[in-house]
Amino acid sequence: MRTLLVTGGGSGIGAAIARAADDAGYRVGVMDVETKAADALAESLKNGVGLGADVADADQVAAAVADLGAVDVLVNNAGVLATGPLIDHDPADFRRVIDINLTAVFIAAQAAARCMRDAGGGSIVNIASINGIHPSPNCGAYTAAKAGVMGLTQQMSVEWGEFGIRVNAVAPGFVDAGMSTPFYQNAAVRSRRASAVPLGRLGEADDIARAVLYLASDAASYVSGQTLTVDGGVINSVLAQLPRD
Ligand SMILES: NC(=O)c1ccc[n+]([C@@H]2O[C@H](COP(=O)([O-])OP(=O)(O)OC[C@H]3O[C@@H](n4cnc5c(N)ncnc54)[C@H](O)[C@@H]3O)[C@@H](O)[C@H]2O)c1
Repeated sequence: MRTLLVTGGGSGIGAAIARAADDAGYRVGVMDVETKAADALAESLKNGVGLGADVADADQVAAAVADLGAVDVLVNNAGVLATGPLIDHDPADFRRVIDINLTAVFIAAQAAARCMRDAGGGSIVNIASINGIHPSPNCGAYTAAKAGVMGLTQQMSVEWGEFGIRVNAVAPGFVDAGMSTPFYQNAAVRSRRASAVPLGRLGEADDIARAVLYLASDAASYVSGQTLTVDGGVINSVLAQLPRD
């Protein structure tokens, strides 16, 4: 049985990825800084292991990976959003966002890649964001971190291909889950956003989970270094949003 480790698996998109992986027959390591949430989610699975760890702390991540014992697939999903204009952004908070969204991807990927190298291969999927492709106002640190995640994905794919490790990213669009849930409680925002999406709806956590499982699986055996945008087509619709006569 293959083992999939998902960071930030205690809620939102990470929880959906954990459930989908469980359904697909993986043994699932659910890592989260919210230990109770990680344990509760793991207990709800057929074959889950809860792991309390802060992804930005290399020692905690290494200990959690050692506890799990094997990692065939790593999904770097943990993330935080900080909003506000860059002109006023506190540098300490900027660093926190980079630490959790970007540096932690390197930390967990390095720990998992060492296991994968010893085991003869594996697959890593990093959760980026369309923010890393098209910046939106007041998300400066997040945008920089997510653009970095895509660059790091390419870099790791180049360095770790020789170990049989594929590294890809998923860039979700407007997803009605997790950190965006409060935002979409506003009905006007919700319908304006949904109508901007060519497919006419917001994304669901399961839309992201299915894309992650595809990239993790042997169906993607020759795919590495790619970012798969899962956004209902919205990043291609910039010109479609412009006013016309
Ligand atoms: N929801 C969206 O619209 C959306 C869109 C694009 C990308 N994303 C990305 O999807 C991923 C999941 O986000 P979500 O929307 O499910 O939000 P969420 O807040 O529900 O999930 C994030 C999880 O990460 C955990 N976490 C935070 N800091 C941590 C740390 N230091 N160590 C370990 N765990 C930590 C949280 O406890 C939480 O369980 C994030 O990387 C986010 O940037 C979300």
